[in-house]
Amino acid sequence: VYQYLRPLLFRLEPERVHTLAIDALALASEHPGLLRLLKLSYGVSDPRLHTTVFGLTFPSPIGLAAGMDKNAAAIPAFLALGFGFVEIGSVTAHAQPGNPKPRLFRLPADQAIINRMGFNNIGAAAVARRLAGLRQRGVISAPLGINLGKSKLTPLANAPEDYIHALNLLYPYGDYFVINVSSPNTPGLRELQDKQHLDTLLAQVMAYIAEQPARKPLLLKIAPDLSEPQLDDVIALCLERGVSGLIATNTTTKRRQLRTAIDEAGGLSGKPLGERALEVLRYLNRQLQGQLPLVAVGGIATADDVMSRFEAGASLVQLYTALVYEGPGVIRRMSQGIVAQRRRDPHASIRQ
Ligand SMILES: Cc1cc2nc3c(=O)[nH]c(=O)nc-3n(C[C@H](O)[C@H](O)[C@H](O)COP(=O)(O)O)c2cc1C
Repeated sequence: VYQYLRPLLFRLEPERVHTLAIDALALASEHPGLLRLLKLSYGVSDPRLHTTVFGLTFPSPIGLAAGMDKNAAAIPAFLALGFGFVEIGSVTAHAQPGNPKPRLFRLPADQAIINRMGFNNIGAAAVARRLAGLRQRGVISAPLGINLGKSKLTPLANAPEDYIHALNLLYPYGDYFVINVSSPNTPGLRELQDKQHLDTLLAQVMAYIAEQPARKPLLLKIAPDLSEPQLDDVIALCLERGVSGLIATNTTTKRRQLRTAIDEAGGLSGKPLGERALEVLRYLNRQLQGQLPLVAVGGIATADDVMSRFEAGASLVQLYTALVYEGPGVIRRMSQGIVAQRRRDPHASIRQ
C-alpha cells in the first residue's frame, strides 16, 4: 500500500506528513479496535525475536528511534506496528518550540533526511502526565525508553541540573533513559561529549539514579562524527561511571557522497549515514569487548542491515528514516528476515 501512498505524501511538506502520521497513530492509540487492525496488518510476534538486555526483556530487538514520537503521543500504535520498544523524546526540562520552519527536508535520491528540528517538544512535565495516564491504563506492553535533551535556554554549564530536572519528572515512567548529547541542532550540545563536560554530567546523573529506590538503566547516545580518541574517552567515562549502554549513532553533520544538491544545516540520517554508523559501532565493539551493550541506529532499512549490526556487536537496533521511505511494512519485513535467519542458525545469537 505504501508504495502507492508515498508519491502523494511526498507532495506534501515533510513536517506536515509527520504531523499527520503522528495524529493518525495517536488516534489509533486510543481505540483498541484500530490497534488490533494495525497489529493484524503489521504486527510480528515470535519467540525468536525476544531479547534480554540491561535487565529488560524486549519482544523484538527492533525499536523506534528517538525523534519520531517526541511527545509520547502514539506509543501503543508504534508497538502495534511491530516495534519491540519505543524511545520517546528527546524531551527537555522546559517546553520549547524548536527551530523556525522549514526544518525538515527529504532527499529521496539518497533515501535520507536532513533535520534541524531543535528539540521541539511539550516539556518533561507534560510528557510525564501523558505517561502516567498510559501506565495507569496499562497500554505500554514493551520497554519504554525516554530520551532526554538539554533545554535550549539552559547554559551548557547548567546542563547536568537541566537533564536531572527532566529525569526526575519522568523517572517513574520509563524503563530505560537516554542522555542525548549528540543532536547537532542545539547550539553547544555536542560539546557535552567532551571529557570534562561528560564526566560531570554522567557523575551527577548516575548519583541521582543511585538515590532512587529502583535503579533504571541509563544509556548515552553519541554522534557519528566523534574521532577514535573521542570515542575512547566516552568509553572510559561510561565504564567508570556505570552507564548501562551506548546508542550509536545520532545524525551526522557531514555531507559525504550525496546525490542530492542541497545546502541545509542540520543532521543527516538514512542510507548515507549507515556506513559511518556501522563503523562507529564496530569500533565501540572492538574496544569494549562486550563490557557494555550497544544499540545500533543509523541507516538501517533491511534485515541484512540488522544482521550486520548484530554481527558488529549490537544487541538492539533502532530506525527512523526507513519508516519514511519504506512505510510501516518495513518493520515486519526486517523482523521476518531475522526470524528466518535464526531458524536456519538457531545458535547465532548465542555465539555472539
Ligand atoms: C526528524 C528527526 C528528528 C530526530 N530527533 C531526534 C531527537 O529528538 N533525539 C535523538 O536522540 N535523536 C533524534 N533523531 C535521530 C534518530 O533517532 C536517529 O539516531 C537517526 O535518525 C539515525 O537513524 P535513521 O538513519 O534510522 O534515521 C532524529 C532524526 C530525525 C530524522
